[in-house]
Amino acid sequence: MTSYKELGLVNTREMFKKAIHGGYAVPAYNFNNMEQMQAIIQACVETKSPVILQVSKGARDYANINLLRNMARGAVDYAKELGYPIPIVLHLDHGPSFEVAKECIDNGFSSVMIDGSSLPFEQNIALTKKVVDYAHQFDVTVEGELGVLAGIEDEVSAAQSHYTNPADVIEFVSRTGVDSLAISIGTSHGANKFKPEQCKRNADGILIPPPLRFDILQEIQAKLPEFPIVLHGSSSVPQEYVKMINEYGGKLKDSVGIPESQLREAATYNVCKINIDSDGRLAMTAIVRKVLHDHPEVFDPRKYLGPARDELKKMYIHKNIDVLGSAGKA
Ligand code: G3H
Ligand code: 13P
Ligand code: ZN
Repeated sequence: MTSYKELGLVNTREMFKKAIHGGYAVPAYNFNNMEQMQAIIQACVETKSPVILQVSKGARDYANINLLRNMARGAVDYAKELGYPIPIVLHLDHGPSFEVAKECIDNGFSSVMIDGSSLPFEQNIALTKKVVDYAHQFDVTVEGELGVLAGIEDEVSAAQSHYTNPADVIEFVSRTGVDSLAISIGTSHGANKFKPEQCKRNADGILIPPPLRFDILQEIQAKLPEFPIVLHGSSSVPQEYVKMINEYGGKLKDSVGIPESQLREAATYNVCKINIDSDGRLAMTAIVRKVLHDHPEVFDPRKYLGPARDELKKMYIHKNIDVLGSAGKA
């Protein structure tokens, strides 16, 4: 058993309390390799932002839980070395079962999500409560989910979204004891968040997605004042990266994300954790494609992963300052 406290990590409790009162959201950036982790920590240290390093089940399978835990420990030391010891959470993203959540808790994670959102209400409550009862013995915080996000990725998939029903949230939170709640108000996973027929097109042919359901968020907030709310599927899918990927041999079609202005607005409510994965994938892929196209003689991975890391860092800095509002809050 490794406690996250030995690794210098923190749970989400204090972080979320400050975020709710400060009108900002803490970034939850997914990572599964060293360059992503370096970019996240560099950006968050430079902007003095707290951060949640997020690991999906797919990332665990890809990178190995021991390596990820030690990378998180390294991230704590790295931040200090860079000159500012920001609070860092190591979080399991979309935990699929009690066993996976337990394994992460036993391996130094300071926060876990148990994703029972596709289960019937009572089963979601039973599974979430089981994880909470285990996690809280070790002061690990737990995120539950009500409502279903659309989108397909390696380990997370649902064909259709169902908005969270505000009538359910009080019962879910009080019976499970969760520390935060992920809700569905129109975001979704991946780089194709909406079908073109759900969107309008602007004069340049760019897809404009339907707005988030702030009415549902407001209703939930009225029922659970001061309770931490989480938004998944919150990549903005920057069109400059989509364009660059396609210009250099990629084939992304109708990719569209959540406009930054809407995420900024969400962060002023009780939304205190915003999950971003796809944008990091897009930024890295765009730069790797460009560098390899412009410099066909290159075969040292540092020559393309280095510039990709720099771009990622730039993107995270922008998000912390202009979108989530977490800069200066560490
Ligand atoms: O929320 C979903 C994450 O972006 C999952 O990513 O399972 O492909 O690692 P992954
Ligand atoms: P995106 O696919 O929008 O980046 O969402 C990531 C996410 O929700 C991770 O849990
Ligand atoms: Zn998610």
